[in-house]
Amino acid sequence: MSGREIEKRDRLNAALRALHGCFSITAPQMLDIAEKFHEAMLCGLVGRKGPLKMIPSFFGMPTGEESGVFLSVDFGGTNVRVSLIKLLGHGKITVLKKLSTFLKDPGGSYDYTSSAATGRELFCFLAGQIAGLVGADATVPLGLTFSFPTKMYALDKAVLIGWTKEFKTRMTAGRDINILLHDALQEQGLRGIKPVAVINDTVGTLLTAAYGDPHADIGSICGTGHNTCYFEPLPPQHRPMIINIESGNFDGLPVNDFDRELDLKSEKPGEQVLEKMVSGRYLGELMRLVVLDLAHKGCLFQGKDSDMPGFPYQTNSLNAEHMSLMLGDKTTGLAGIAAWLKGSAGIQEPLLLELGALQTIASLLTARAARLVASTCAGVLRRLDPLLKNPHTIAVDGSLYGKMTGFAPRLRAALDEILLDRAGQVTLKPTRDGSGMGAAIAAAMAVTSETIR
Ligand code: BGC
Repeated sequence: MSGREIEKRDRLNAALRALHGCFSITAPQMLDIAEKFHEAMLCGLVGRKGPLKMIPSFFGMPTGEESGVFLSVDFGGTNVRVSLIKLLGHGKITVLKKLSTFLKDPGGSYDYTSSAATGRELFCFLAGQIAGLVGADATVPLGLTFSFPTKMYALDKAVLIGWTKEFKTRMTAGRDINILLHDALQEQGLRGIKPVAVINDTVGTLLTAAYGDPHADIGSICGTGHNTCYFEPLPPQHRPMIINIESGNFDGLPVNDFDRELDLKSEKPGEQVLEKMVSGRYLGELMRLVVLDLAHKGCLFQGKDSDMPGFPYQTNSLNAEHMSLMLGDKTTGLAGIAAWLKGSAGIQEPLLLELGALQTIASLLTARAARLVASTCAGVLRRLDPLLKNPHTIAVDGSLYGKMTGFAPRLRAALDEILLDRAGQVTLKPTRDGSGMGAAIAAAMAVTSETIR
């Protein structure tokens, strides 16, 4: 190694050590976050102002015996899934047909997530997808999973408080989502389809797990967005029901300069602080800001012109999938990361230490995300069962949990670190497509009104 290379290596290693300090969350910090989260839950439950909205869902837990055929619409990210689902009872569910469509055409011909579209147009598009799956003459109750903060007034009455995940569709915030859907169905002549239930995706995930598991009492989404719900036995103003915490808005967290920069550049600065630190929508951009800082300090990619398009100089040029690819690269020369850098950033011959640095940064951010989510789950468990006398199942869905290399084991390990000898009482249950299936269960519960276990 030449003198210059040694100097570069030492500078990079020092920068990585500093990043380690910036992004690590210690065990005492996790306990502190859990406690603050628990306090914020109590505050939200009694309607005091705070980061956690604690929204009543009006749904209790399913019995597992709900049955029949229901339509489910799962709307929460850039693609919408419409499914015809048969609930068989005894905790068994079959998907009869399904269709998935992008709300934002990759070819650029339409974008219902942008301010170019209105809520009415968005829901007419959804109704068109429903017609495509079941035909105009179908008669079936419909459950809608709508994965944004909505104020619930009844099982089928949900008003959008405000968009998250960088959605900007106009004339939707402040509107009753089920009325928008109902009107769109009528407009398309789908008079036999009755929208009877609206739920959050966390609620759907919990309902799906609880359909077959009596210990399920927490549902969490770790995907494009992040949020958690739980079954609250004693809500001050309501009967026992599932509460949508809207935990992505939690802000009692140790943020660093990179978090602040990401937040300032986001659609809604100051909001969704936890979500911006842990979810797929933001992790890639957060990592890009870190790498950009190292590049500006001359620690990485020397020689790459900052006017060149692509990573790391272009906003959103890195996403959570790329991070997962970096974390999963087990080759000795980190050939996968090198190929990605060549294709996406035009960086021809990166040094092995630069490739290793990218892997380290992706790992720091993923570990922090898992530890923060685990801390908030511990906060919920503190509310439900402080001494963990009973078994609990946390149902988890979302692309980060399902696909991000290392995230799921790190979440488990962090929970074990917090809960110590009681950790065996808590099961993390991957609940694939829980949000979609949950909409069908919610529809079944709404038509029979058997909403409370
Ligand atoms: C939304 C939540 C949702 C979560 C996961 C967040 O941005 O505010 O309502 O549950 O994303 O999809």
